[in-house]
Amino acid sequence: MIKNIAVLGSGTMGSGIALLFAEHGFKVALYEPAGRTFPSLDARIHFYNDLEKAVANADLIVEAVPEQLEIKREVFRQLAEIISDRAIVASNTSTISLQTLAENLPFSDRIVITHFFNPANLIPLVEIVTLPTTSPQIGNELTALLIHCGKTPVVLNRDVPGFVANRLQAALIREALYLVENGIADPGQIDTVVKEGLGLRWAFKGPFEIADLGGLDVWAKVTGHLFPELSTNTLAPESLLTKVADGELGVKSGYGYYRYEDPSSTAEKMKNSIDQLVSFKKRIEEV
Ligand SMILES: NC(=O)c1ccc[n+]([C@@H]2O[C@H](COP(=O)([O-])OP(=O)(O)OC[C@H]3O[C@@H](n4cnc5c(N)ncnc54)[C@H](O)[C@@H]3O)[C@@H](O)[C@H]2O)c1
Repeated sequence: MIKNIAVLGSGTMGSGIALLFAEHGFKVALYEPAGRTFPSLDARIHFYNDLEKAVANADLIVEAVPEQLEIKREVFRQLAEIISDRAIVASNTSTISLQTLAENLPFSDRIVITHFFNPANLIPLVEIVTLPTTSPQIGNELTALLIHCGKTPVVLNRDVPGFVANRLQAALIREALYLVENGIADPGQIDTVVKEGLGLRWAFKGPFEIADLGGLDVWAKVTGHLFPELSTNTLAPESLLTKVADGELGVKSGYGYYRYEDPSSTAEKMKNSIDQLVSFKKRIEEV
């Protein structure tokens, strides 16, 4: 049974994940390497700069360190020497396959992916990825834990880089960047199309439900006519790489596709909107 939870990395995702579990009554240890400062979060979260102490009593360890395989591997190497033989390790990686993460690990039968979405304490979805060698009990235990915390876990059938949500998101941004690079629409117009049209439906209906509503005969035509027109780019787009090279990283650098005078209030406003939208959606769906 999961009682004590350790979260590794107190950045954007680690903070939100720690907050979620603390808000649902779990004892949470939040680890950050020595020398870094901790965000102010919740009195029920205990902060550690010592990995061994942070994971000493952990039944579940959620890894939310930067998306670099070497960093994650080094953290797992350290964990291998100190965690109990019943602790479950869950990575919050956005893109790396579980098979890659589990390679040569002594706890490869107890490592899974729990992919949260930012802000992690507010967005209901968590994608769960396991391997054929993972004990089914681990998947069941994590699913139960996440449901208890008000989440909507989706256990995928198979391990694949990017899982489902990021593959869908990547397909959308590839086409959006193609439209911008070819002068068909600018980022503001594309954001309006998504926010005022597609996104409103997506909060309530998924693509297959929308296909059923529109008629599959219509979708057979739409896909047949449009697929040959769509971007098939397999590289990170030039226009995006140029922005990164110029230090235009988005909200965190104050400039990306838009200018941000006050980056922290932009993130706060987004959290508030999501919080309200999630409550509103629940109310509507209960009717
Ligand atoms: N930001 C998102 O929207 C998002 C969404 C889903 C998943 N993810 C994934 O979650 C993970 C964390 O992303 P993030 O956005 O929170 O990154 P972040 O950079 O905000 O936070 C990473 C934290 O890890 C700390 N860190 C660095 N080295 C460490 C180590 N060796 N041990 C412990 N902590 C260490 C950093 O100091 C930092 O506080 C990544 O794998 C990312 O792909 C991010």
